[in-house]
This record gives sequence, structure tokens and C-alpha cells, in this order.
Amino acid sequence: MALLGIDIGTSGTKTLLMDETGTVLAGATVEYPLSTPRPGWAEQDPEEWWRATVQTIRRVLADSGLDGSQVRGIGLSGQMHGSVFLDRAGEVIRPALLWCDQRTAAQCEWITATVGRERVVELTSNPVLTGFTAPKVIWLRDHEPENYERVVQVLLPKDFIRFRLSGEFATEVSDASGTAMFHVRERRWATELLDAIGVPSEWMPASFESHVASTRVSSSAAAVTGLRAGTPIVGGGGDQAAGAVGNGIVESGILSSTVGTSGVVFAYSDGPAVDPELRLHTFCHAVEGKWHQMGVMLSAGGSLRWFRDTLCRDLIAEAASRGCDPYELIAAEAEAAPAGCEGLVFLPYLTGERTPHPDPNARGVFFGLTLRHDRRHMARAVLEGVAYGLRDSFEILDAMQVPVREVRASGGGARSPLWRQIQADVSGREHVVINVDEGPAFGVALLAGVGTGVWSHVSEACRATIQVRSATPPSPEVQTVYDRHYPIYTSLYDSLKVAFTRTAALAG
Ligand code: XUL
Repeated sequence: MALLGIDIGTSGTKTLLMDETGTVLAGATVEYPLSTPRPGWAEQDPEEWWRATVQTIRRVLADSGLDGSQVRGIGLSGQMHGSVFLDRAGEVIRPALLWCDQRTAAQCEWITATVGRERVVELTSNPVLTGFTAPKVIWLRDHEPENYERVVQVLLPKDFIRFRLSGEFATEVSDASGTAMFHVRERRWATELLDAIGVPSEWMPASFESHVASTRVSSSAAAVTGLRAGTPIVGGGGDQAAGAVGNGIVESGILSSTVGTSGVVFAYSDGPAVDPELRLHTFCHAVEGKWHQMGVMLSAGGSLRWFRDTLCRDLIAEAASRGCDPYELIAAEAEAAPAGCEGLVFLPYLTGERTPHPDPNARGVFFGLTLRHDRRHMARAVLEGVAYGLRDSFEILDAMQVPVREVRASGGGARSPLWRQIQADVSGREHVVINVDEGPAFGVALLAGVGTGVWSHVSEACRATIQVRSATPPSPEVQTVYDRHYPIYTSLYDSLKVAFTRTAALAG
């Protein structure tokens, strides 16, 4: 028997099949575009997610030689915070607004003013931020009233896929936490807040703990995917909580630092502790009755991808002719520059920022350029700037007295030995790497195993399948260099905040 994990990511959908020892039998990814109809907007067509889901399920079944009846359970993960609006016929009303969409500043202010800032935090354990779901619903009300009139259901990306797989509306606590409409402490919809902002609570799907098999594959979905009708689908998780399960972040003291498009420092927590300055998110974990804190940078790997695509076209071409990855060539250039980049500092706020500065107007910056600097310094400055941003989250967790025994590096940023070393040196903490590098799809396949009786608890699933493979300790001399530069990095946002706001206003 096998377990299926599906992750509806921002760049593509990744599906994997694992056996009951956690060995991956087959994996498949299908990519899709992200559209930015205006600066700061980010949308995707949910139908693309469904097409990619069907294709990847069919592919992993074919590649593994298994048939649908051998799949014991399914777990769903996805990019968080997105808004899928459905009409009475179950059709998608407009493209989904994604987690990195920044159009809703006015709606965040309206919700905060209407409900009251303290009450919002009391109910949802977080401030209302532009990427979260509630302001997207209010944006639809304000800007597309004819679409708003048609809404009967609001779903998160992975829960839209659940609807297509099962015909049912359901979600789970970790993803629901990122909507700004969920009572994170009490693990239920915040009907008090929904009432206050005039959003019908019937628009929200029923919410379950993440390992609970809340829905089953319908016969129509079975016909298109090759799955067996009736196969249990567990709640799953938002991609960060799901990725954390896949990294074994299910006990106190073990943290992950994940560099994908976004950059996330994730800490498990026995209780719903809230950063007094609200710079970290406090959400329900995908582990029953547990929570987590996380700091989210919007452009971590995204900054390096931008650097590659805009300033390294020659390296992309060279990599194609040599049959290697352009990121390896960029890392080789970065390695030739000294730690601290001779005073060059990069601020990675290319799509605004969330942690520690929730500011849609923040912008990317190279600071300290001189005639001496060239692309090698700029490449290294990007890697260092992202690592400084991750350190911001570690500093907040320290201030909250969250214990840190072990940091597990994951995502694309952990694959580069140089970047891993820079992250260890900048944070002053050893970063370890584990045996699996499959991300959220792996985590929700584990949850599917818990929900269908393979393991009795998420921590048992993680113990059975996850081991630490290697460690990158910080180098004390380099750490000292970064300790001297970090205060410069942190001071730059404060110095530039007003200029960011004015620039954003001018650029529209
Ligand atoms: C988490 C977040 C992103 C998205 C996309 O709060 O916004 O990590 O889930 O991966």
C-alpha cells in the first residue's frame, strides 16, 4: 500500500507516492504560470492547479506501477492564503489572488479599523496582512461587486483541489490559520470577526485537524485520476506546516529554515504564544492541538531567481551548454567575493516584506556600491541579504525565549553548500540537513499515513522516516564579520522606510 502527497505550489504542483516506510516510489511536477496583471498583483487560475493535479497523479501511478486501489490515503498541501471564489454551481468566479499579492493594503486597514486591532489579535493571534485571505474577500466586495454577489464559498488553494477530488468543502486548521478569519487559539472559524466584517460564515468550509480523513475521492474524480473512489483524503496542511512535518519539526527545540521562493523560519510550539510586536505569524500546527510561530520573507529564493534572470543571462546560457545548473555558476562567482562583500549589502524586499517589516511598499536595495564592486560581490550580497533576513526571525524567536536546539535547513537554498554555510555563519547556528528533501508533499503523505492508521501520531511518523544526514557549523571568524554587518542591514530599512512609501506612490 502507498500514501499520496500533493502540493499545490506557486510555480507548480508536485505529487509523490511513498510506501509505508517513507521511501518515495515516484514523484512528478507540472508547472504553471503566475500572472501579474498589475504591479503588486499575483494571480493564478485554479483550473491550472486541477489540470496539474490530475496529470501528476496519473504520472506517479504510471511510474510506480501501482494502481489506484493500492493508495491507502491522500494528503493535500498548498500555497497558503490564496482565495478561490466559487459560485453556486461550484465554478471558479475569477482567478485566485495569491499569498504574494499586495493589492489589499486599504482592505487590511478597513478590517483592522472595523474590528479593532486588539480584537483582531485576540481572535486570530495575528495582524491582518496584505497576503492573507480576509482582505482579499473585502477587495472583491470593494472592486468587483458583481463577482462578490455570486460568491457562495471561499476556498484555499489545496481545498479547491479537495473539492475537485471529493465534491466536498473542507479545510484544516494550519491553512485556515492564514486566512485572518480563523480563531487560532481555539482552532475554529472566528465567527465573531466574520460577523463584524459582514462575510457570511457559510462561505467557509468545515475545518478539521490536519491528520483527520475528512473527505473521500468521488467516483467522477476517480475516473479522471485513476484513483479508487472512496480513498480517504486527510486535511493535510498549508505548505509551511506540511513542509515542517516533512522536516520533522514536531517537537520543541527543532526549527526549520526553508529557502524556497519565500524564506521561512518555523518553530514548533506547545501553545499559541504571540510575538508582542506581531512580526512573526502564530498559526495552528498540522500536529493535533499544537501551534507554531514562523517568520516569512516574501523574496528569499525569489531574490536569487530575480538576480539569475536579470543579471546572469550569460551564466544561464553557459550552464545550458555545459549541462549544469546556472545557480552553481552563480554560487562559484559569489564564493570569489569575501564575506561581508566589502561593504555591499542587499535588502531582499523585491515584493515588499512580511517579517520583520510587514510593508508592501518595501523594495529591494543594493547598498554601499563602489567602483570596486562587481557581479561576484552582488551575487554574494544577495545570498547574505537573504540570510540576514532569516536572522531577523531567529532574533525575534530568541526574544520570545523559544528554545532552539537544532536548525534544519531545507528548500532550494539548503542545496547550495555556500548558501547553507552563509546561513550558518550569519545566524551563528549550526544548520543540519535531513535525509529527505521532498518538501510539503512528503509531509502531507505522512499525515495521510497518520489519518489512515499507518502511524499512531505525527511524531511517530517523523521518527520512522526522518534522520539528520549532515551538519554545517558556523565558522567563528566569519560569524564575527557578519555580526559586524548585521546592524547595518537592520538599520537600512528604518532609514529607507519613508523613501519606500514615496517611491511606491510614484510608481503606482
Ligand atoms: C506562508 C506564505 C508562503 C506561501 C507560499 O505564510 O505566505 O510561504 O505559503 O509558499
